[in-house]
Order: sequence, then C-alpha cells, then structure tokens
Amino acid sequence: MNRKITIAIDGYSSTGKSTIAKQLANKLGYVYVDSGAMYRAMTLFAMNNKFVGPSFLDKESLLQNLEDATLDFQFNASLGFAEMYLNGKNVEKEIRTLDVSNLVSTIAAISEVRKKLVAIQKEIGKNKGVVMDGRDIGTVVFTDAELKLFMTSSAETRAQRRYDELIEKGQDVSYEQVLKNVLERDHIDTTRKDSPLIKADDAIEIDNSSLTKEEQFAMILKLVEEKLRNV
Ligand code: DC
Repeated sequence: MNRKITIAIDGYSSTGKSTIAKQLANKLGYVYVDSGAMYRAMTLFAMNNKFVGPSFLDKESLLQNLEDATLDFQFNASLGFAEMYLNGKNVEKEIRTLDVSNLVSTIAAISEVRKKLVAIQKEIGKNKGVVMDGRDIGTVVFTDAELKLFMTSSAETRAQRRYDELIEKGQDVSYEQVLKNVLERDHIDTTRKDSPLIKADDAIEIDNSSLTKEEQFAMILKLVEEKLRNV
C-alpha cells in the first residue's frame, strides 16, 4: 500500500487536467508537474528573445540558445503547488496569457525543445510518486505509468472554461478569440510529427463535459485506489 505509482494525465487543452492532477497530488502527497507550463516557459523565453512572434519563427537562433533557458519548479506553500521559474524569475502569470497560448504549439512542435523538456520530466519522475499532466506523458514521458488518463470534452465547453478563467484574471479577451485558440492548438497538437497528442492504448478516456469537479475527482480517485491495491 505504501508503494508509489506514476499517474500520467493527457488530453486536449482546457480539459481540467491540471485541476484533477493537483487534487490527486494533494490527496496522495505526490509531486504535481504541469508539463504544459514548461512548454509555455520555453515559449516565453523564445518571445522575449525575439526568436518567435505572431508571424515569424527563428528556429535556428532558438536552438543555438536553448541552453540559456533554465526551467525550475518552486513549491509555493500558500498555493499548494509548484510555480514555474524561467532563469530564476517566477513566470507563472506571464505564461498564462493568450499571447503565449497563441505561440506555444509552434514551440512545442520543435523536436529539440521536446527532447530537452522530456529529459527534465523523466528526471523529476524517476522515483515515482508523481502526477504529471500534458500531451505526451502516457505515450512518451512515462510509457510505464501505472495509471494513464486521457481527458476530453467539447471544444466549446473548454473554450468557455478558459474564457471564464482569463476574465477572472482580468485579461481582455473575447470568447471567440479563446475558442479560435483552443481549435488551433487542438489541430497543431494532434497533427505535429513529434509526439502528437494521441490516447495511449492503455489510457482510460474520461469525457468530463457533463461532470462536476467533485464527480470527476471521486471517479478518478476510485481508479487510483484500485491501482494502489494492485501494486
Ligand atoms: O497544458 P497547456 O495547455 O498549458 O499546454 C500548453 C501547450 O504546450 C499545448 O498546447 C501543447 C504543449 N504541450 C505539449 O506539447 N506537450 C506536453 N506534454 C504539454 C504541453
């Protein structure tokens, strides 16, 4: 019963992966890792250095300077989860803007970027006791995870959730802009050559369009408890 497992949560953007991952990590005393935050921080690094913008990508310069981007997670006890740091600076707020969201799939499609981030993710999870969410966690990062979940819900439901979150944070966006971003990211994330978003054969698919957060948590916790009984 004391053995720790690895929980991999993949799925489309704004399917509530991070909410469930944080709830599980808190309940189990596991480490929570938001791998999307790492791709967002790399995107911010590329934007700050003018390697990428709305109409250009200077991939060569980005790759030449990849080693200058240092990513860390630092636990924030008052929030109850780890925040993303880029070269020593807390970028948690900056990486959640629509500007970053609009460019992140472009950066996440670059194999060298993925290689760098996957190596960090594997290192963080090597002792198990980790809940990681992303797009390729069950298919690439932790192919041997004991529990793999694949989260889905309709694009409109996801855009509405994301829109509500951004408005609550005081950002000036429209629902249409957010829906467009959700659909574009779905397209790029599922069709890219390197590690496209696909359900792992052994992942359990959960469509949460009509589930409350509480119903979803109860349902997934049952799956975790079942796994823990069998390790
Ligand atoms: O989870 P998120 O929406 O914050 O992720 C932002 C983007 O990062 C997402 O559109 C695709 C990319 N990503 C990825 O390619 N692989 C991961 N493991 C996590 C995120």
